Parts: sequence; structure tokens; C-alpha cells
Amino acid sequence: MKVKESIRYLEDLLTSGLEEIENARNREDLESVRVEYLGRKGKVTEFIRRLGEIPAGERPEAGKRANSVKVRLRDALREKIESLETVSLEERLAGEAVDTTLPGYEPWVGSLHPISLVFREIIEVFHGMGFSVAYGPEVELDYYNFEALNFPKDHPTRDMQDTLYLSDDVVMRTHTSPVQVRVMESVSPPVRIISPGRAFRCDSPDASHSPVFHQVEGLYVDTDVTLPQLKGCLDSFARGIFGPGVKTRFRPSFFPFTEPSAEVDISCIFCDGEGCRVCKRTGWLEILGAGMVNPAVFEAVGYDPEVYSGFAFGLGVERIAMLKYGINDIRTFYENDIRFLSQF
Ligand code: FA5
Repeated sequence: MKVKESIRYLEDLLTSGLEEIENARNREDLESVRVEYLGRKGKVTEFIRRLGEIPAGERPEAGKRANSVKVRLRDALREKIESLETVSLEERLAGEAVDTTLPGYEPWVGSLHPISLVFREIIEVFHGMGFSVAYGPEVELDYYNFEALNFPKDHPTRDMQDTLYLSDDVVMRTHTSPVQVRVMESVSPPVRIISPGRAFRCDSPDASHSPVFHQVEGLYVDTDVTLPQLKGCLDSFARGIFGPGVKTRFRPSFFPFTEPSAEVDISCIFCDGEGCRVCKRTGWLEILGAGMVNPAVFEAVGYDPEVYSGFAFGLGVERIAMLKYGINDIRTFYENDIRFLSQF
């Protein structure tokens, strides 16, 4: 081997080795370059082994060059390994980076059911007028649901409320009015309560009827309670729930436990009383039943009707919620569709 030739060969090895190192994309590529040039049978190793074939005078020079090629390739390999590691670390860090400026994930929280919201609002308005809250059983004696409220047995007034009988004497309460009787039986006047709760009727479900629904009963008993006080109380209630501009209207009606009795309407909140589809062009929306407590009820609970007078009212909570939120089908309250419920 001539020195000149061998030096050119070494330079070629260096150039191609450096190029392959440069083009390596990962540790495996680099390892095969190392084996190709510096491995036991590698090109540089082989050259060094064959140094003996070079004339003795020129051998040191060739040996020096071969060593320097070996060192340069080894250094280039080490640098490339380091740079690959840095790149992969940077890539990993970039992938794992937390952008603290991004908005966080909002925890998913539930919300109150619209019926609960309306219950709370109604209770708050009546609290403001001095009413406290009383509760009664949903499974009720016929006596409290009907008889003490002046619905005689086998009397047609019972047909007003389609009843689920559990036995001859026990019903699912058809309204919250029995709580009136239970409260009056247990305390002396003055009485000023509202009673929120569930009621049950054999009504077929449709857009405005459900077999299970909610009511709020109200009762105020004292000496000298008058019809104008009932009107004032329900006016304040309507304004508290539907806003200050709302008006009320009393229409004569009939309930066995009140005399006189009235259906109470509010001026239509959708058209301001002008007349629209929702109020069927009347300008008015019915919201509750009310009246002066019938003396027969006072007698049933042992209050002297000559001394005491009172008023009572009962409203359907779904009806209020539907008007308040512009909902046109009562069934949406019970379908538990999260897209509906999460709007409140
Ligand atoms: C009563 O239940 C009387 N207890 C109200 C009352 C109390 C009058 C005190 C006088 C004094 P009524 O049957 O009209 O009345 O029912 C009252 C309200 O309950 C209705 O206006 C309606 O909003 C609601 N309601 C009645 N049946 C259903 C039903 N199946 N589904 C949904 N809401 C109903």
C-alpha cells in the first residue's frame, strides 16, 4: 500500500463516515455507522490492522492519520448521539408542555331542577310576607284529603279530582290542601303557612297534565281576615314571581273548602295583556285557585267560624315554572334530559 493512496483512502473514509453520521436519524443508524467504520471488522480498524503493509518509513505518518480519522469519527458519533438525545428530549418536553394561559377545564356541576328553583322562589316570596312552611304526608287519609275539606263521601265534587285510592280510606293526596287541616288541627290561630309538595291524580299525561305534579298551598287564619287581604297577598306574590308590571284578576269559581272561591289570573306575561297565542287572545293566564276558608272547614278542625276567618290558595308549581321559563310541555320536566335541565 502506498502512503499517498492510503491517505486518500483514509480521507474518503472520513468524508463518507462523517456524511453517514450526519444523515443518521436515530441511535440504530449511528450504531451501524460505528460498526461499519470503527467496529472489530470496521473499515478504519481494518486499515490500522494492515498498517504493517506500509513501508516502515511512511508507517508513522499513515498511523497518525488513521488514528486521527478514528478519533474524529468517534467524536462525531458522540456529538451526534448527544444532539439526537437533546432533540428527543425537546420534542418530549414540547409534547408534554402545559400551557398555563389556556382556560382550565370547568368541573361539571349539577344544578337545581327547574321545579326546585321555582319552589324556592315561591317560598322566598311568601317568607317575605310572614308565611312559614309546613309539610304533610303524600299518602293521605280520605278524611284530610276530602271530608274535612267539605267534600262529602259520594258527592259529585269529588269528581273534580281524579283520585288514586290505596284503600277505601287512604288516597294519594290529590292536592296539598289537606295540610291546611292538619296544621289547623295542631295549632290555634293565627296561622300563616304555605305547604309545598307533591300531588297525585289519575290524569293522563299531556302537555299540561301529569299524574304526579307539585303544588303550593297557602293558608292564613286570624280574626278579621278579609278578601281584599287575599287579593293583596296574591298581587304581591304575582309581582314577586313575574315582575312588578304584572296584574291579577279574580274570577268566580268553586271549591268545596272555600267560599267565595276564585280562579286567579295574571295579565299575560308574553304579550303584556294585549292578547297572543299563549293566552288564547284573552290577555290573561290562569295561575291558581283561592278563596275564603269555608266555615265548614273551621268547624271540622274546631275553630269557631264566628271568631275566625281566613283565606287559602293553591297553585300548580309546574304551571308557574312553564310560564316563567316559556316551556310549553309539562312532560319535559320529568324526562331528565340533561340538555334541558342544564339550562336553568
Ligand atoms: C286545587 O287543587 C285546590 N286544592 C287549590 C285551592 C287551594 C283552591 C286552596 C282554593 C284554596 P285545582 O284542582 O284547580 O285546585 O289544582 C290547582 C292547580 O294544580 C291547577 O291550577 C294546576 O296548575 C295544577 N294541577 C292540577 N292538576 C294537575 C295535573 N294533573 N298536572 C299538573 N298540574 C296540575
